[in-house]
Amino acid sequence: MSFLDFLASQFSKAQKATLVESFQDDLDPSVMFKVVDRKTPFLPLFDVRRLEFQRGSSYSYSAIYLNKHLRLQPIYFAVQRLTESFFPKFSSLESALVLGCAGCSIPRFLALSSKDCKITGVEYSKTMIEIARKYFINDPLYKNFTLLHDDAFSYVHRITVPFQLIYVDLFLAENNCPQITSMEFIHAICSSMAEESIAIFNALCLSKDDCMKFASRHASSFSAAYVFDHQFHYYVVFVKVSSASKLKPFEKRAMNFIRLDERFIAP
Ligand SMILES: C[S@@+](CC[C@H](N)C(=O)[O-])C[C@H]1O[C@@H](n2cnc3c(N)ncnc32)[C@H](O)[C@@H]1O
Repeated sequence: MSFLDFLASQFSKAQKATLVESFQDDLDPSVMFKVVDRKTPFLPLFDVRRLEFQRGSSYSYSAIYLNKHLRLQPIYFAVQRLTESFFPKFSSLESALVLGCAGCSIPRFLALSSKDCKITGVEYSKTMIEIARKYFINDPLYKNFTLLHDDAFSYVHRITVPFQLIYVDLFLAENNCPQITSMEFIHAICSSMAEESIAIFNALCLSKDDCMKFASRHASSFSAAYVFDHQFHYYVVFVKVSSASKLKPFEKRAMNFIRLDERFIAP
């Protein structure tokens, strides 16, 4: 954890929450999504806006810093660091796809990191899109961000121009998405990746064993597959590189922040 993250976690304890607006979920009317601003008295630097909700026994949230000088966002630390490790010069990152967007935390990180990167987001909840447009992406910062209302599992089969970064984040509280590990989906992701590219899977609902099987089963379609562990939250990562010599520098940079559990290098 960086010093800035440590400070942010301390300040989050002193934050005062203000409800901005509540929305009823269009797919499940028993679920309410709340937009909540959490502000620290006399210290606006770490003020956050969160999209919070309870589904069944699970409480979830998506969050962004309101301050545009904070490039790294308060959630998905591992995803942001893995992206930076693969694209140390953000100027080379020109296209990114985020499957599952909610409060658009990763699109915000990307928009703040590279002003030229074309970002596409896919989200199937109409309510999430309404909330994002009203409270999370209503800023000129998102001039290169397109948020599409679509099902990620059908969208991937219609991609014609490959992406350099793909982030798969399709879990919503208790809802599991078993299709993310299917042959059909991985094949579509692989075909949608540029020559030098990375696909990061949020494997929140998978055990470490399942992640290992998932990564090893598909490694041969890529240059390498990895299982990273950020405080027992696993990420399965597939990369394509033009030369195997690029793998070690990527791994070294990533390991400054995240534990590498396993690597599977394609023969
Ligand atoms: C954990 S949230 C995503 C957070 C987001 N990546 C961010 O950067 O803040 C997961 C999102 O995936 C969406 N989702 C789940 N299944 C989906 C599908 N099949 N197609 C598109 N979106 C989906 C959910 O509605 C939810 O908003």
